Amino acid sequence: MSSSLPSEVVSSIEALKVRYERPSAALVPALFEIQERNGHITPEDEAAVAGLLEVDECTVHETASFYPLIFQQPVGKTHIQVCHNISCSLVGAEPLIDLLERELGVGEKEVTPDGLVSYQRAECLGCCCDAPVMLVGETLIGNLTPEKVQTVCARLKSGEKIVNDTSLTHTEPLEGGAVSVNFLIRDAHHLKIAEERGAYGAARKGLLEMTPDQILGEVKEAGLRGQGGAGFPTGMKWSFVPRDTPWTKYLCVNADESEPGTCKDREILRRDPHRLIEGIILASRAIGVRTAYVYIRREFYEPRQTFEAALREAYDAGYLGTNVLSSGFDLDIHVHHGAGAYICGEETGLIESLEGKKGWPRIKPPFPALKGLFGRPTVVNNVETLANLPFIISNGASRFRLRGTEKSPGTKLFCISGHVRKPGVHELPMGYSLRDMIYGVAGGIRDGHTLKAVIPGGSSVQVLRADEIDVAMDFEATRAAGTMLGSGGVIVMDESVDMVEALMVIARFYAHESCGQCTPCREGTAWTYKILHRLIEGRARPEDLDTLLDLANNMDGTTICPLGSAAAWPIQAMLKKFPEEFERRLPRKVAAVG
Ligand SMILES: Cc1cc2nc3c(=O)[nH]c(=O)nc-3n(C[C@H](O)[C@H](O)[C@H](O)COP(=O)(O)O)c2cc1C
Repeated sequence: MSSSLPSEVVSSIEALKVRYERPSAALVPALFEIQERNGHITPEDEAAVAGLLEVDECTVHETASFYPLIFQQPVGKTHIQVCHNISCSLVGAEPLIDLLERELGVGEKEVTPDGLVSYQRAECLGCCCDAPVMLVGETLIGNLTPEKVQTVCARLKSGEKIVNDTSLTHTEPLEGGAVSVNFLIRDAHHLKIAEERGAYGAARKGLLEMTPDQILGEVKEAGLRGQGGAGFPTGMKWSFVPRDTPWTKYLCVNADESEPGTCKDREILRRDPHRLIEGIILASRAIGVRTAYVYIRREFYEPRQTFEAALREAYDAGYLGTNVLSSGFDLDIHVHHGAGAYICGEETGLIESLEGKKGWPRIKPPFPALKGLFGRPTVVNNVETLANLPFIISNGASRFRLRGTEKSPGTKLFCISGHVRKPGVHELPMGYSLRDMIYGVAGGIRDGHTLKAVIPGGSSVQVLRADEIDVAMDFEATRAAGTMLGSGGVIVMDESVDMVEALMVIARFYAHESCGQCTPCREGTAWTYKILHRLIEGRARPEDLDTLLDLANNMDGTTICPLGSAAAWPIQAMLKKFPEEFERRLPRKVAAVG
């Protein structure tokens, strides 16, 4: 079919196709290629892309309309995304969004009459320790204040440049730590500095002195566990992939980082990208992978650019490509953009998305280790998980095990956001006390306030009351305390927080992000949000709390992927831990007369 697209766009799309085993996988990148030029995607664009990628138009439309960041309607020349999720809302996102609307003079998803600006609310931009945040085009503005919102709006009106001001996410690297040692080293994202600090020494060792089985053995012995949330033992996951087969195998690096409260992978991508590349080399060598994909959420513009620059340096230096370091090993790494859907962080949703489809999770089994990307054996690993590998291979499993606990060895990046004096991303030993994290590392609760509650592992896990924070932050102890370590997103709330409102913000997120595939999750998340909204607006019905709990219990463990449970756990825990706040919202019982 003849394409209505300009020839340079057609050439870019043709170049994208060769990155994938199937051309259809280039669908989302192809749509972004057009959107970057035209602002949005028209039905004619969809038809043209369908022709170029040999996909039917229905599939193109189904994919395009699934993703919030593929725009089907015109947006302003600069499109703003402003976060209203939990960490941002705790520190004043809503009044700032009201101000933004007033300054722009338009509502959400409307475009200013001059066509220059539009805005939309975002469900967590993955920068929770810089909250409140907004993305102005590709530029992130953090620690938002009314003055910053006004300045941005004035600059947009006068055509001035918007400046990124979040380069200094607070962090205090752990001495001798596994992933954060370069976080405060100037220019450590450049190969020269990274090499001076020992980068690629582990890759050299892994490729030239160790067999794939020896790398796998070391990782198993280290007891490294997945840092994406589930904590599955990494070595065990790799060992499920068939060995000694001629089949193509893939590694997918999960840089989707969309769990509210979590913003750690972003720091690795932007501060120490070569550590991640080295981790990918080691994992690929151990599993027998020749092609790895790094699935990075679209909103991470600056981290992605830094990572892509590091990739180019690594190719130029012979750490990637054919015959890496003269070892006979070949490896290519491709970056693939997410398009704003949380569900694509779930490993099979990610695989579907990478294949150019909507991110509907797959039923397991078969597990990705046997049948993953393009039907091939595939490992999906989180960024932080892989960033631990250079330390393990350089220093050995026993040194890695010096920190952490027997079953949760090593360290973890924790993201502490909300009502603490010093929000930030910190590498700490597994098993570190939650109390010390809040009152020591993060400087305690903001002035004049007291702790009320903590969500210790990203918004999907069970809340703890202030009197429950004597918990060791590892996989086992958090479970024993009735919650989870999750992705390490520690969201701290002081006494000013209304828990019904906090839960409503969380429930809004799951309602927005449910992919709709499973009935309990699709209906449950939507109804939960609706009921909480009704409670807040003073329209509660006597049975609402029972219904809320019923909905949560019906979502918990009944869906294809864990999003249903992730939506249920906060509800169950909030109702149990703060019942009086919910009961207060119910209609008063009127005493019978006569
Ligand atoms: C709804 C949902 C969202 C998820 N989002 C992410 C994510 O953004 N990043 C991530 O690494 N893992 C995420 N996960 C976990 C992945 O499914 C998977 O367990 C992980 O990427 C495996 O890597 P790991 O073993 O190295 O932790 C998510 C899971 C669910 C159910």
